[in-house]
Amino acid sequence: MKFLSKQQIEFYHQNGYLVVEQYLSASDIIALKNGAKAIIEQFDLSELKVFTTENQIEHLDRYFLESGDKVRCFFEKDAFDEAGKLVWNKTEAVNKIGHAMHDLMPHFERISYRKVLLSIVQALGLKVPSIVQSQYIYKSPKIGGAVNPHTDSTFIYTEPLSCLGAWMALDDATVKNGCLRIIPGSHLYPLQQQYVRNEEGNGTKFVDTPDSRVMWPLEELIPVEVKAGDLVLLHGSVVHSSEANHSDFARHAYVLHLVDLETSWPKDNWLQRPRQLPFRTLKNVIEILN
Ligand code: FE2
Repeated sequence: MKFLSKQQIEFYHQNGYLVVEQYLSASDIIALKNGAKAIIEQFDLSELKVFTTENQIEHLDRYFLESGDKVRCFFEKDAFDEAGKLVWNKTEAVNKIGHAMHDLMPHFERISYRKVLLSIVQALGLKVPSIVQSQYIYKSPKIGGAVNPHTDSTFIYTEPLSCLGAWMALDDATVKNGCLRIIPGSHLYPLQQQYVRNEEGNGTKFVDTPDSRVMWPLEELIPVEVKAGDLVLLHGSVVHSSEANHSDFARHAYVLHLVDLETSWPKDNWLQRPRQLPFRTLKNVIEILN
């Protein structure tokens, strides 16, 4: 069964993104929100802390680098005071949860691995699609920070490039609460940077590509307002960002990043999976679940 029309596929290839309305049901949204809330409620804040500032940076780098096969909470930078004490409501202070809910938690798995998604991403060019990371993004009222213009292929890098984002709105996303902003057509620009593990393997860095000086026309960013339940498909090379949430309304999103397993996955990508939890193909998991 085909879920995307010829016009939708053409729109995606021309603009580097596509909105599919009403992708998630109301009950999917409730299940995801409840699932995320339960993760945060069970989260032990002491996981984030060590006793010296120097070790703290190393600790947080490791906390992030080892999250590719785990479910971990990441907090807004304004959530803690200088002494490291949480100064905000714990749930709202979360920036995101990542990065393997889709493979570790059955209610996230059920909503992530769907025939409709397989049909969509195959229609957009992925031959052997696999979900390599899941993120539950909070962007809470008043504290949810801005996300600078970037491309997802910088962080989810394959050779050749194949990253495709599936950004699902769990609340109405508007200009007021920090909806996605996209430069239509910017997926045709070359990749500027790669986000990799450093040589020691204990931190990360950005590495410029030969095209790193290509300027993005940031004045062409347009807001893409969507309703709760809508899906925004993002080409890995499309430039996008979002503003901080200064409104009184939450802007939660559940985001999957997919790649084509026919490409290669470099060893210095920040995201690595251990042998016991390899990337799974969308097709295989869907067959197992049904
Ligand atoms: Fe992104």
